[in-house]
Amino acid sequence: MSRIVVIGGTGYAGSAIVAEAAARGHEVTAFSRSLSADRVPGVNYVQGDATDEATLASVISGADVVVAALAPRGPLAGTFRDVNRTIARLANAENARLFVVGGYSSLRPAAGAPRFMEDLSHAPAEVHDEILAGAALIMEDLPATPETLNWVFVSPALAFGAFAPGERLDKYRLGDDIAIQPEDGGAISAPDYAIGLVDLIEQDNRHRAHVNLAH
Ligand SMILES: NC(=O)c1ccc[n+]([C@@H]2O[C@H](COP(=O)([O-])OP(=O)(O)OC[C@H]3O[C@@H](n4cnc5c(N)ncnc54)[C@H](OP(=O)(O)O)[C@@H]3O)[C@@H](O)[C@H]2O)c1
Repeated sequence: MSRIVVIGGTGYAGSAIVAEAAARGHEVTAFSRSLSADRVPGVNYVQGDATDEATLASVISGADVVVAALAPRGPLAGTFRDVNRTIARLANAENARLFVVGGYSSLRPAAGAPRFMEDLSHAPAEVHDEILAGAALIMEDLPATPETLNWVFVSPALAFGAFAPGERLDKYRLGDDIAIQPEDGGAISAPDYAIGLVDLIEQDNRHRAHVNLAH
């Protein structure tokens, strides 16, 4: 049993991770600004703003694992990287492992090829900043952390999000930083992404690594 703190634990990805980790008997804290109407029994829901370092430090205190599931949208658009760097620093100070919910665009189509985000001509302009902020975590910020921090950046398949909920199939495929070739259109549902991420937490066999999960 691990003490797992999910920053953004009421969001699309975060709430699925919270539910999966709690169902497996982990001690789970879900942190967000507003409380969810849909609470998982046994989960410790903590309300606060991740832009406040003292609040973050208090919620991360005592964690074995921190999951960063914030999104670079809305008020966090301008501070997403700073907040995630702070989460990484606090996780390292706590000797906790860090799992970051990443984006598809930071993956590569093939070994040695540029990441998808290096050509955004096919993505709508309104999501360019979001994609670039997420990719900067894996390209710059996480590799720059002290070697003592054990992080895993977990990209989903392209079709992931509230716009494409998908169903729980109780299966996933795990790849590295090369996007898994889609068999069913390149999707993963939130519950199956969460199964893969909690398996990674439990197996503890990826260190300072970029992985991806797809059906
Ligand atoms: N295909 C893809 O590549 C893909 C698709 C979707 C998502 N993603 C990635 O997955 C990650 C998570 O996205 P998501 O869609 O799950 O996000 P989401 O549904 O918007 O959830 C964000 C979570 O963060 C919390 N939050 C927001 N601002 C906060 C703050 N200042 N302090 C504390 N908590 C805060 C929200 O709750 P409150 O608002 O109540 O605070 C919520 O729990 C992102 O990095 C995103 O880029 C990738």
